[in-house]
Amino acid sequence: RKRAPNAVDIRARKGGEPLVSLTAYTTPMARLMDDHCDFVLVGDSVGMVLHGLESTLGVTMEMMILHGQAVARGLDKAMMVIDMPFASYEESPAQAFRNAARLMAETGAGAVKLEGGVEMAETIRFLVKRGIPVMAHIGLTPQSINTLGGYKVQGRDDQAQTVLADAHAVADAGAFSLVLEKVPQGLANQITAEVAIPTIGIGASAECDGQILVVDDMVGFFTAFKPKFVKRYAELGPLAEAAIAEYAAEVRARAFPADEHVFANQAPSQGTAK
Ligand code: KIV
Ligand code: NA
Repeated sequence: RKRAPNAVDIRARKGGEPLVSLTAYTTPMARLMDDHCDFVLVGDSVGMVLHGLESTLGVTMEMMILHGQAVARGLDKAMMVIDMPFASYEESPAQAFRNAARLMAETGAGAVKLEGGVEMAETIRFLVKRGIPVMAHIGLTPQSINTLGGYKVQGRDDQAQTVLADAHAVADAGAFSLVLEKVPQGLANQITAEVAIPTIGIGASAECDGQILVVDDMVGFFTAFKPKFVKRYAELGPLAEAAIAEYAAEVRARAFPADEHVFANQAPSQGTAK
């Protein structure tokens, strides 16, 4: 069994075989992807995907720690990265260090991810210098939905220079990789070519050094909406609903439980016990 990669291993994958990653929030889902992913992200998307929140802004440290601990129990071979939730790092580098250290100590994550470019470079440098590997996240940053005004593509036309500057800033600050969310393909290719750390695309480009998707999106469990960049590899949501509907019908018809699901009054006789 290979050991789980760490941030230095992931960093060294620049320009090589594409890095594979997905989000996970629970032990069973983490187990399913452990053999297939290089790293697994405990994303703050958990708030929208599993808790029914309208955005990621209401996600707390406590939620991230609880889900991080669950995911850790399902992983042996893949690295675990955990999102810093909104308001846990923006105030100061010291605040970011305190909360990043707590996330790693209480969950066993090998790195944290935080949103922001030029404005977070000082914080990224502070964390990395003190032993905390940081994955950056630029382009569409969902924690800034209220200032961005919507989940739209970032870095089109005259905005491209801003996103490019963000990429260089987080790479120069010591981030070991960076997530590029919902940026034009050409810009994603340019950033991937220019920065020395792996780019992880989501709604970006196949030329990125890796890809990430929200697992519930790609297996069809989260169906409230489907961003263009999501590919549905399965439709488990409708499959699960059909199973629930069949169960409901069988209970109402007294067809469930059947004989094989109930216990006889008399214990089976010795030797023939099943
Ligand atoms: O929270 C999340 O799921 C993420 C990924 C989509 C990059 O940040
Ligand atoms: Na996130």
